[in-house]
Amino acid sequence: EAPLRVALLGCGVVGSSVARMLVEHGDDLAARVGRRLELVGIAVRRAGKDRSDLPVDPALFTTDAESLVTRADIVVEVIGGIEPARSLIELAMKSGASVVSANKALLAEAGPALYAEAAEHGVDLYYEAAVAGAIPILRPIRESLAGDEVRKVLGIVNGTTNYVLDKMDTTGQGFAEAVEQAQALGYAEADPTADVEGFDAAAKAAILASLAFHTRVSSDQVYREGITEVSAADVQAAREMDCVVKLLAICERTETIGSDGRSTAGVSVRVHPAMIPRSHPLGGVRDAFNAVFVEADAAGQLMFYGKGAGGDPTASAVLGDVVAVARHRVGGGRGHGESAYADLPVLEMGQA
Ligand code: NDP
Ligand code: HSE
Repeated sequence: EAPLRVALLGCGVVGSSVARMLVEHGDDLAARVGRRLELVGIAVRRAGKDRSDLPVDPALFTTDAESLVTRADIVVEVIGGIEPARSLIELAMKSGASVVSANKALLAEAGPALYAEAAEHGVDLYYEAAVAGAIPILRPIRESLAGDEVRKVLGIVNGTTNYVLDKMDTTGQGFAEAVEQAQALGYAEADPTADVEGFDAAAKAAILASLAFHTRVSSDQVYREGITEVSAADVQAAREMDCVVKLLAICERTETIGSDGRSTAGVSVRVHPAMIPRSHPLGGVRDAFNAVFVEADAAGQLMFYGKGAGGDPTASAVLGDVVAVARHRVGGGRGHGESAYADLPVLEMGQA
């Protein structure tokens, strides 16, 4: 049988790990899917960049992403940002390809429109890698907890800021130097402002809240404070109280009682630095690790922990999605369609 054609859009930190794993694990992936996955092209921005360290045919690299997506069964988008990622994903779905993306900025801005397009074209759109790197968190919330009532999702969802705060705490290192290291290690976004100003965590919080509470929350509805105002003195003051500073994302269901005595259900979604005891499980999250607590009525409290950033950990989540959508192609059917949404009002911080 003909292999499933995989197009890779982007070959940076994440894309190069995806390309390597697709090639090196080709036989295992074929056994798990029931069909071979053939890498048919890799779209990049800089045609001349040396990529000879990757075990792929140099002829696969192209700057013509548009033509590449129209000849694939599965498109993996790891370019990042809104455009051209969005147009390429839309073109891929229109051409009948299933899509796997790690792009939280895009999913948090245009998720519902993209799910609707996936449904219209009868293809999958998976994005497990968009939140918390290697940690399987979206599928458990979306699928395993679909029969329960999730009340709260809280945790550390940005590896770069956790790395920076951890270095400031444990080595006394300066902010700027720690950010540079996070960039060199492949944790930071192309523009690290997205990390340190909390935009990346806000996008992830929007995605988590949307899935957990079956509603639509976009990034701009998330209350956001980053870590640029956290000084060495703040970190030291926290130390003296046996605490650490962490950037938290907090998503909660809320209930407000109006003057007529009626209660209205809503959600509150916020990202801000918080001082927490060193002995708390979140206080022990080091380096670029992430940790997410989920509270649901019947399940109680669940904790998810692991590597939240970096090429290989993120590629693990991307390839898990590739296998899932490939299995649907082989076995028929689709995975996530558009969920049944409720339009819950998003409350500003302080209203909850
Ligand atoms: P990089 O900046 O390392 O890589 C981006 C890649 O996209 C590069 O290969 C670049 O090409 C390519 N690219 C940029 N513009 C275009 C274009 N117009 N057409 C074709 N290719 C283009 O990013 P990352 O790998 O770090 O991140 C990719 C995505 O994964 C982002 O959405 C990010 O948020 C997400 N993500 C990243 C994680 C991480 O730890 N880094 C973790 C989880 C998600 P060239 O190589 O020629 O410059
Ligand atoms: N820049 C992101 C982070 C990558 O540091 O968490 C993972 O989403």
